[in-house]
Amino acid sequence: MTRFSRVIGTGGYLPEHIRTNDEISKMVDTSDGWIYERTGIKSRRIAGPEESAASMAEVAARQALESAGADPSEIDLIIVATGTPDRVYPSTGCLLQQRLGIRNCVAFDIQAACSGSIFAMSVADQYIKSGAARTVLVVGSEICSRVVDWTDRSTCVLFGDGAGAILLQASDKPGIISTHIHSDGEFEELLYLPNPQSASESNKNEAGFVRMRGNEVFKVAVNTLGRIVDETLSANAMSQEEINWLVPHQANTRIIAATAKKLRMSMDNVILTLETQGNTSSASVLLALNEGVQDGRIQRGHVLLLEAFGAGFTWGSALIRY
Ligand code: UT7
Repeated sequence: MTRFSRVIGTGGYLPEHIRTNDEISKMVDTSDGWIYERTGIKSRRIAGPEESAASMAEVAARQALESAGADPSEIDLIIVATGTPDRVYPSTGCLLQQRLGIRNCVAFDIQAACSGSIFAMSVADQYIKSGAARTVLVVGSEICSRVVDWTDRSTCVLFGDGAGAILLQASDKPGIISTHIHSDGEFEELLYLPNPQSASESNKNEAGFVRMRGNEVFKVAVNTLGRIVDETLSANAMSQEEINWLVPHQANTRIIAATAKKLRMSMDNVILTLETQGNTSSASVLLALNEGVQDGRIQRGHVLLLEAFGAGFTWGSALIRY
């Protein structure tokens, strides 16, 4: 019997505080008009002083468990995707395990920047398909507001905080149809987050803030995401019309529109959260998925194409029959 990873629950968490483009315009030389036109972002959520990747992950994870009617004790494996962990170690996965009050499962983190949740889903799917795990909790949680330089207008307008979660369980019905993940370390300098404390002598004076050559990243992202659409469809001998929903990483509406065009898909079939959430890095795809499920747009049986692109570069997709 073929074993698939079926989505049995989704969850999400957004911090309470909303930071609008107008507020950022008072901090750096920018405007609501520029930000909205170039990115599609109007506002983003900013975590409170006592919040962290682990605390946000817990809320999203509990919501995913509740929507599945599952108990934390059923979880065999926790994978957290984050580039902004509370501590380098223990992993945020272990911190989440502690918060969920469970001990008999494996927990670890995956770091693939904005593609993190797709990478984590791909790993989860391999564990479930191989029979090594039955129930896997995947969470993407990011506190981007603490790693952006609020004096750098080219990056601070883009990012937001939040967490998304998905609970996957072995089933004889799909489920995840396929995942496709890729990396190319050649592009280190176009998008990176320094870690001065453990960097080499020549890099240790860089501040721990996101650095991005946005326009160059943009061009690679559009081309690469076009290729991942082709790869995903051809691996499954599917045509564009069979996809009901595009659930993209939320970096820029212009990038998302290019991917939708490649799928000959109307923007009405794209789950967009960018306007009110900004780019929440590894949380964004799972937050968008949760939103589409919660508001009833995504229905059982629909085919979803999840995709993301991020630092590394890393990129990937997950084709799911919900
Ligand atoms: O999530 C991981 C992957 N990340 C991405 O996929 C992000 C990809 N990149 C992008 O989304 C876009 O490149 C940005 C939104 C970051 C930038 O948009 P752009 O259209 O590529 O603008 P640009 O970087 O080419 O800059 C155009 C102009 C520049 O001024 P000059 O040189 O033309 O005078 C910038 O200095 O816009 C200026 N600029 C700004 N102006 C007002 C840059 N940031 C701002 C700002 N407000 N916040």
